Amino acid sequence: MSQAKHPSGLSAEQITEMIELAAQTAQRSYAPYSKFRVGASILLDDGSIFTGCNVENASYRVTTCAEQAAIVKAVSEVGPSIRLRAVAVANLNGAASMPCGACRQTILEFGSPETWIFFPGEDGPVDVSLAQLLPYGFHLAHD
Ligand code: THU
Repeated sequence: MSQAKHPSGLSAEQITEMIELAAQTAQRSYAPYSKFRVGASILLDDGSIFTGCNVENASYRVTTCAEQAAIVKAVSEVGPSIRLRAVAVANLNGAASMPCGACRQTILEFGSPETWIFFPGEDGPVDVSLAQLLPYGFHLAHD
């Protein structure tokens, strides 16, 4: 495989591994309502990887997305200082699944404009920075 680095600084092998981990974790999805089984993996700046899947609820809005599950797991295990280098999303439905708006804002909380996001798009795999995915994320301004 090519030695070329992606603009994220990740190797092609690392990106493939992240996408595979996301797909494996989607196998544990709890999605009896939408039947849309999503998995996510996140790469932290210390090199560790965490994964998550979507967990739905009969009260639909209580659902947790795969990306949020992975981030909550990482904060719970490592602490509030985690920084996200990359996020990969996969689903078992053969469909496009880009992070929803709430997940983009959650990624921003622990990421940066240079956090790289990999997901299946309408026309194949997509890789974009968070700056591209969420150009006007919310920041709390105090006076
Ligand atoms: N979902 C995710 O897990 N991540 C996203 O970014 C978008 C949506 C889940 C939530 C719900 O369980 C299912 O996909 C359908 O919306």
